[in-house]
Amino acid sequence: MGKRAAGQRTSKSLSIHVDELVRRISLRTATIGIIGLGYVGLPLAVEFGAEFARVLGFDIDAERVLLLNAGRSHIRDVADERVESLVTAGRFECSSDFTRLAECDAIVICVPTPLGIGNFPDLACIFDAAEQVAGALRPGQLVVLESTTYPGTTEEVLVPILERSNLTADRDFLVAFSPERIDPGRDLPLPQIPKVIGGCSKRSADAARLLYGAIFEETFVVSSARAAETVKLLENTFRLVNIGFINEFARLCRQLNIDSSEVIAAASTKPFGFMPFQPGPGVGGHCIPLDPHYLAWESKRQGFTSRFIELAEDVNSQMPAYVVDLISGALNEARKSLRDAQILVVGVAYKRNIDDTRRSPAVAVIDRLRMRGAVVSYHDPYVAELHSRHNDWPEWRPRVIVPYERRSGDRVGATSTPLRRRADTLASVSLDPVHLARADCVVILTDHEAVDYQAILDHASLIVDTRQVISREKAIASAAKVYAL
Ligand SMILES: NC(=O)c1ccc[n+]([C@@H]2O[C@H](COP(=O)([O-])OP(=O)(O)OC[C@H]3O[C@@H](n4cnc5c(N)ncnc54)[C@H](O)[C@@H]3O)[C@@H](O)[C@H]2O)c1
Repeated sequence: MGKRAAGQRTSKSLSIHVDELVRRISLRTATIGIIGLGYVGLPLAVEFGAEFARVLGFDIDAERVLLLNAGRSHIRDVADERVESLVTAGRFECSSDFTRLAECDAIVICVPTPLGIGNFPDLACIFDAAEQVAGALRPGQLVVLESTTYPGTTEEVLVPILERSNLTADRDFLVAFSPERIDPGRDLPLPQIPKVIGGCSKRSADAARLLYGAIFEETFVVSSARAAETVKLLENTFRLVNIGFINEFARLCRQLNIDSSEVIAAASTKPFGFMPFQPGPGVGGHCIPLDPHYLAWESKRQGFTSRFIELAEDVNSQMPAYVVDLISGALNEARKSLRDAQILVVGVAYKRNIDDTRRSPAVAVIDRLRMRGAVVSYHDPYVAELHSRHNDWPEWRPRVIVPYERRSGDRVGATSTPLRRRADTLASVSLDPVHLARADCVVILTDHEAVDYQAILDHASLIVDTRQVISREKAIASAAKVYAL
């Protein structure tokens, strides 16, 4: 039967299906499906699990499915006990059998949206998930996309794939976009973060609002899915641009011999019109460095170039190299060279209090240090091992670097030994007096609260602090020489 015929057949009954969906959501008897059980999907699944009769989690990662069904969590912010109690009560079950999506009343898609080569949006996971949903779609279901993506994805990419089912959006099923705003490591319960929703139609938005209203304290409905997609991109681009600006400001202050942390702290006392951002070794994670590219790509496709995004990206991506220059300069002052120096990095997660090293600037700094002949070890209370394969900084990819003289035929002060980018694993060392005293330089790259910074001040001789965790007073009082970004 053709799409139109199927749509006509079911259109009369949509209100009955929607009524049933509304009834099931209101009574909390609805089954909620979550596709993609990562940093976004799992916290959402346990929140829905606390409220609804049944949550079905779907993931292509069979190991993850097994782990969760055994009641264990792989996300630091989600305690094992929360998963275990839901699994034991029969309220949460995970599967890689996507035909079971038909059992769900509402389906939330939380799959990754990485960048492809050349920083193009890579929607492969959304395509796959959408096809799985299309294969199981039945009248009366609500489908919500949460993956961060460019404006138009829900209506122009997701809906056409779902309609391959011979069902029609807003006639047979409902579709909305709702951006995820979770901030791993922040002690703010998910339900307290207001939830933005944009439907492909009014009734889609209403149904999505009812669904999320069950777990979020506040919902905010915008006029369209496209607007909701853009909200997320504005939020993350705002951070990218402001971090870029403050990183450049810190470099400017260093040039003028001004303490940028003192200036930022003083400016922050202004009760209006100023919002503090802190400089650092670069941006990391799978949101801030990636999402603005989605916005830039779509706007460029429509004939508009965002210079702010390009500039911020440029400034931030230079920070790891700038930090290495800072370390090299600090060693130089101590009459030491970077080559063969023992460097102890403190913190490799991309931001404080989390264990996520994806695109961490620490990875880029470590790689550059090793490329210049330093011997690097690290300490991170949350990252026991740093696997190069888990990182997608281009410079971390293993490859042989041909020395300069071999490429050009000239010998311009280059080493005769080819340096090799290593695809290996580093293990976190303890932050004890021996490791600290042995290091020629201790470099603070992530400001975890669990780190004993006083111990670093007490036992290290040279410190480069890229996160401004060591106050000027403490630095002056310490026997260690401290350089701040
Ligand atoms: N991590 C964050 O802090 C954060 C915050 C806001 C928004 N987001 C966005 O949310 C989305 C998900 O990010 P994440 O950090 O949770 O990713 P993640 O890598 O932690 O988890 C994604 C999960 O999806 C699974 N998956 C991949 N393809 C699949 C498919 N076709 N079907 C089923 N499962 C599939 C993976 O196996 C993995 O378990 C991305 O668009 C991201 O930009 C992330």
